[in-house]
Amino acid sequence: MKASGHCLGGGRHAARPFAVPAPFRAAFLALLLAAAPAHAEAPDTGLCLSCHGGPGQAPATADTPLLGGQPELYALYQLVFFRQGQRKHDVMTELVAEMSDDELRALAAWVGTLPPPAAIEAEVERTALSQERFDRGAELARSHRCGNCHEPDLTGREHMPRLAGQQEAYLLKTLQDYKAGRRVGIQAAMAEVLSDMDEADLEALAHFMAHAGR
Ligand code: HEC
Ligand code: HEC
Repeated sequence: MKASGHCLGGGRHAARPFAVPAPFRAAFLALLLAAAPAHAEAPDTGLCLSCHGGPGQAPATADTPLLGGQPELYALYQLVFFRQGQRKHDVMTELVAEMSDDELRALAAWVGTLPPPAAIEAEVERTALSQERFDRGAELARSHRCGNCHEPDLTGREHMPRLAGQQEAYLLKTLQDYKAGRRVGIQAAMAEVLSDMDEADLEALAHFMAHAGR
């Protein structure tokens, strides 16, 4: 792949072998077939939306996060973490591996313009609301002061992500990743805040966040 130039093109040159998990193969094929965009400055974000979902487009899998409403700074940190290998995901890591700082900045700026999940509700499949689990999650969020960092309405700010309306299966997976030390962020805040919780607590929190603000 070319070291400079646009981020997602490279087409036929992008054939470094690595395993693409089954649900992502179609999107990855689209990446390999993508024509080079005319301008290096304009990231080819159609591919991003094909996995992450957006207006008129459902996310590819239940554990793929929606990007809408995420603060630009948070998105930038995560893209850098993927590039450094500090945060791991086969496709994300590969996508950003050879991108420049400017390319990551352009992508993060784009993420910062996307509408929040509430605006694309029709595209998102939700689990049926369980009032009992929602209330348990809300109580855990209150007692652990999630809102101090993520904002009381869980819409996030700066390097702290939006949680409200995120995909539930993704939220659960990522809480498990923090607790198990598979995902390490800018600070140890998340591992600490989850340290006294069990699996049922994580499930209740994920359910609460996914249904929050709706
Ligand atoms: C093949 C599917 C796929 C494609 C294509 C893809 N992503 Fe992702 N992305 C994912 C998955 C799955 C995750 C969650 C990884 C995990 O579980 O940690 C993710 C995570 C992210 C995150 C972190 C979100 C959060 O809430 O922490 C950002 C930011 C992101 N992707 C941006 C992008 C951008 C920008 C593009 C296009 C250049 C893109 N992604 C293309 C599947 C994809
Ligand atoms: C001291 C501040 C702080 C507190 C308190 C806190 N968080 Fe976080 N949280 C963060 C930061 C910072 C990140 C981003 C870390 C990274 O870079 O991975 C984060 C990330 C997350 C993510 C990942 C979101 C995504 O899109 O990938 C989830 C989910 C989350 N927090 C849930 C919670 C819950 C639930 C609570 C309360 C039980 C909580 N947080 C309390 C600071 C905090």
